[in-house]
Amino acid sequence: MNKFFTNTLILSLFSMLLFRTENLEAVDGDIIKIRFSHVVAENTPKGQGALLFKKLAEERLAGKVEIEILPDSVRFTDEQVLLGLLFGDVEIAAPSLAKFRRFSKSIQIFDLPFLFDDLEQVHQFQTGAIGKSLLDSMLSRGIKGLNYWDNGMRVISANRQLKAPADLANLLFRIEPSAVIETQYRSLGANTFVLPFNRVYDALKLGLVDGQENSWSNIASRKFYQVQSHLVETNHSFQGYMVVTSVHFWESLPPEIRDTLKQILDEVSLEVNRSSVEKQRDSRELVLKAMGKDRVYNLNNDERAAWRSAMQPIWEKFRSEIGDEVIDAAVGR
Ligand code: SIN
Repeated sequence: MNKFFTNTLILSLFSMLLFRTENLEAVDGDIIKIRFSHVVAENTPKGQGALLFKKLAEERLAGKVEIEILPDSVRFTDEQVLLGLLFGDVEIAAPSLAKFRRFSKSIQIFDLPFLFDDLEQVHQFQTGAIGKSLLDSMLSRGIKGLNYWDNGMRVISANRQLKAPADLANLLFRIEPSAVIETQYRSLGANTFVLPFNRVYDALKLGLVDGQENSWSNIASRKFYQVQSHLVETNHSFQGYMVVTSVHFWESLPPEIRDTLKQILDEVSLEVNRSSVEKQRDSRELVLKAMGKDRVYNLNNDERAAWRSAMQPIWEKFRSEIGDEVIDAAVGR
């Protein structure tokens, strides 16, 4: 067991003690307070999903629950929020799937470059037995996955024209804390720097990093196009989320409230995924207009095949960490 897991385990045990007091208070009192933290703007699929969850939960469980949304990293970055759940500082979060490696290695499947061609393939995997089982892959560490939410596919931006994999050489990319994403860039001769999402714009503006990867809606809502000159439409991996809570909080809820909250989350997930498609399309339009169409490179089939074959060896590299069963289910779909 590495040091992080030992520490996480200790923190989980400690949080159980904390929860004994906090949750009893929450459940026995008149109103159960639920804080939902995320790191993106409110006009994004996740931001809108959190607001819709608040609206429906406070309507259907009026007088029983109160939802506080903490958007835009106002309280926690994604790097902090999982421990925040365990400590009882927050009840629900929806970190990007690239942020879970320390709790579940299998969730790294979503970062493997060019494994999923589009959202349809991602959904096929998520709704299959293995995809569903990943929601429970952190239970022993005190985290329960409730739903997957979409935010489109990732594209890459930088201050240099990017077309072929070789164009990334020697550039420094801001990445999420994902070993797969780090390997993806290193295998192309680029360097990486992990930064929380709320620092990316400034890091690009100050020239601390040369580029980044993200969904269209994150690039548009954070105005990364103002501080990046070029973009390549790779659609190389899935920018999605897992809505998570702590096992202790979830199990401390009265069953009828828990079931209603889960039903609401299921409905909200459908709406997030539906509206995300529109949001990516509108955000793409906005970015193309702002950057200029000639600055955004669209790969043709041959070029995409070249990117894919440059990156496919990464799947095998992570096979033992992610698990044969998970990789095979994603590849076979
Ligand atoms: C998010 O979409 O929640 C953040 C993604 C990132 O850290 O780049």
